[in-house]
Amino acid sequence: MTDKPEEAISAPPLSQEPPDVEATAKGHKRLERNVTLLAVATFLTVTIGGIVEIAPLFWIDNTVEKVDGMRPYTPLELAGRDIYIREGCYTCHSQMIRPFKDEVERYGHYSLAAESMYDHPFQWGSKRTGPDLARVGGRYSDEWHVQHLVNPQDVVPESIMPQYGFLAEADLEIADPAANLTALRRVGVPYTDEQIENAESDLALQADSFGDAEALASRYPKSQVRDYDGDPSRLTEMDALVAYLQMLGTLVDVESAAAQEELTNEKGR
Ligand code: HEC
Repeated sequence: MTDKPEEAISAPPLSQEPPDVEATAKGHKRLERNVTLLAVATFLTVTIGGIVEIAPLFWIDNTVEKVDGMRPYTPLELAGRDIYIREGCYTCHSQMIRPFKDEVERYGHYSLAAESMYDHPFQWGSKRTGPDLARVGGRYSDEWHVQHLVNPQDVVPESIMPQYGFLAEADLEIADPAANLTALRRVGVPYTDEQIENAESDLALQADSFGDAEALASRYPKSQVRDYDGDPSRLTEMDALVAYLQMLGTLVDVESAAAQEELTNEKGR
């Protein structure tokens, strides 16, 4: 307790003229009680909100900077990607290196928007139970990947990643590889007629150690042709998944692409 004298406390005086609550409520009352008027007003509000959200999508092509080297997935990589999604690998792994020091030091150059421009659906995210995989291609050997997928604890004893050995047993069965490419072409992935025509043979070719690597490279630059799963006699789901993992982040020369991007941004300013 202090012996300070008690301060007199009082509310501020009411303004001379209190606001006319009745009058402001009147307009609202009319709007709320007239269904047609309310519907029209609601429609207008939703339309404005809708335009604000949708309009930028019409210019999205201008916002994703094209970079050299980016190409659509080969049929085998695409099959691997579908298995990746089917098995829910994305629930533990993202494919988006953010421009933070710790991420760049661990995973490599931050991801560019163009690097996932042909992804439907994209694999961005920040949920990292396992490491980001955006640039995992070429970091390990095929044998490492196969062994790791069959039993992750064999190579990383403390790993909590599940085992995917069954992929090495499962024949890769794609009902119609050409149809998959056609579907993606419809949503904007620039597959050529030649790529679609050769989809079926390219699928097998890429996992064949004696496959015509040059022919595939003419359709898909930087594509890698070899047997991926260690069993050249069969084309398995393991072949497809490892082919996909081994190409992640290998297409674009990021350092020069990022420099280029900065340059065009400077010019635009
Ligand atoms: C339950 C979460 C979980 C799931 C699901 C999962 N992983 Fe992993 N993954 C991890 C963890 C944790 C690690 C780090 C330890 C290790 O290397 O095993 C890892 C590591 C990896 C690595 C090595 C990355 C590096 O840079 O060292 C690859 C490649 C990989 N996972 C691929 C996959 C694929 C492909 C699938 C789906 C078939 C998958 N993971 C599903 C948790 C998961």
